[in-house]
Amino acid sequence: MSGGGAPASAGGGRHAGGAPAGGDAAGVGGGTPLALRRRIVAGNWKMHFVTADAAAFCRELRRGLAEPRQEPAGPARPEVVLFPSFPLLPGVARELAGSDVAMGAQDVHPAERGAHTGDVAAPQLVDAGCRWVLCGHSERRRDHSESDELIARKVAAAARHGLAPLLCVGETREQREAGETLAVLERQVRGGLSSRPAGPAGVVVAYEPVWAIGTGLTASPETAQEAHQFLRGVVSEAAGQGAGAVTLLYGGSVTPANAAGLIAQPDVDGFLVGGASLDPRQFLAIIACSG
Ligand code: PGA
Repeated sequence: MSGGGAPASAGGGRHAGGAPAGGDAAGVGGGTPLALRRRIVAGNWKMHFVTADAAAFCRELRRGLAEPRQEPAGPARPEVVLFPSFPLLPGVARELAGSDVAMGAQDVHPAERGAHTGDVAAPQLVDAGCRWVLCGHSERRRDHSESDELIARKVAAAARHGLAPLLCVGETREQREAGETLAVLERQVRGGLSSRPAGPAGVVVAYEPVWAIGTGLTASPETAQEAHQFLRGVVSEAAGQGAGAVTLLYGGSVTPANAAGLIAQPDVDGFLVGGASLDPRQFLAIIACSG
């Protein structure tokens, strides 16, 4: 990527350390009155686990999070969010009750209710205890031909109902090789945020290069930083928010071995973790180095 015209990294590394989990939109988890960049580590379980696996994971996660930190004086622990598949939501909500781990869904329908067999509406997700929802994950763009226009309606529906949308963007290998990365990211961000209701809440976007998802091919810290720096400007402009209110997560084969190098980049604010989020020890290790 050339990075040409990429706005300078902004936001000065200000993180809302200790902000309530899920406090993105009004009415969601307490809310952060003045939106700041946040540290977030999220686990995308995709189509894995049944109820018993999910419960065991949550217990181990809670045990791990309750352990005294090695550097208690260090930066605040990141917010932690789990994205289980729909049938697991009630069980995970029960297991997480009383903790500050938030829960989200992997998709939402733009409509509030109606004849949409197999789909799930935002009020149903809120009812199930969700505070977040993934919008535009590349596997949904691929498997369900989701367009930026549809994703924008999902982002808007989520925000209207007090769910924090986590918009996912990222280029394919072919697009990167063709030098189209920045154009693709800009189109996906501007498209995905085009119907989002204006408001004070910070925006959270995950940069997930498609070639890095589930492949073991993580973006190098420099490649991730280049994309994140570009995204911070584009997201800020598209959302009408200061760059310091934009939170950018990296996703794509994140492991405990590569997380420290990525989080050290000035515009990487956290992670959306797939494969490694299925193992509580690995997920805890990623959380531990992301504070
Ligand atoms: P991965 O998945 O960590 O298994 O690459 C990331 C994601 O798809 O969110």
